Amino acid sequence: SEVVIEEYLEGQEITLLAVTDGRTVRALLPSQDHKRLLEHDQGPNTGGMGAICPLELPEGLAKELEHTVLEPLIHGLSAEGIEYQGVIYAGLILTTAGPKVLEFNVRFGDPEMQVILPLLRSDLLGLARSVTEGRLAHIELAWRRGAAAAVVLAAPGYPMDPREGLPIWLPESPLEGVLYFHGATREEQGGGLVSNGGRILTVVGMGEDLETALRNAYQGVGEVRSPELCFRRDIGARAIAGSLRRG
Ligand code: GLY
Repeated sequence: SEVVIEEYLEGQEITLLAVTDGRTVRALLPSQDHKRLLEHDQGPNTGGMGAICPLELPEGLAKELEHTVLEPLIHGLSAEGIEYQGVIYAGLILTTAGPKVLEFNVRFGDPEMQVILPLLRSDLLGLARSVTEGRLAHIELAWRRGAAAAVVLAAPGYPMDPREGLPIWLPESPLEGVLYFHGATREEQGGGLVSNGGRILTVVGMGEDLETALRNAYQGVGEVRSPELCFRRDIGARAIAGSLRRG
């Protein structure tokens, strides 16, 4: 009874997360999710199979996005009598006709946040308090140098029908520069770890640059023992090739 016609947006997808206290908005570092299940952006859409941060954007674009996307959103909400304090997730497509908003969410992104947070030098709790207390105008965010890359380990059958109950063994002491984030894992009575849904673990590599971060992430993946888990081997490949820098 109802037909919705949407503009088809072609171009690279990027994620711009921000926080706002209802008046001031502060963007976090730009990141890029990898939504398709398979390499070379093939297969079904997922919640995200990997992410990189910071995403190197064409000169001036980050500032432009603050002025053309984030600030108008806050002013629009305020004009409608909504004083929104919290997180903004802007999913954007960089089309040949300029950046277009695909979606807004009022939550962090997964796996984007697993690559943004390790680079945040500012105190997260202090940032959250400045949001709820309306003091964001006085806060400048500080970031660590370097990059972070995330590779998601998913269950066979994800996203349609993920197999559950697969045993997973994590290394007792992770390699330097590697973080493991649990997603769909469950601890069995006896202590063993099993899968409990689609996106099971996110392995994050940190490094002085994106190449090093990716190398660490994939080394971290190699340390997980659970032979049936699926993951993409081309996370960050487009950014390394400089596809956005070339415009
Ligand atoms: N990674 C996509 C999302 O969090 O919506």
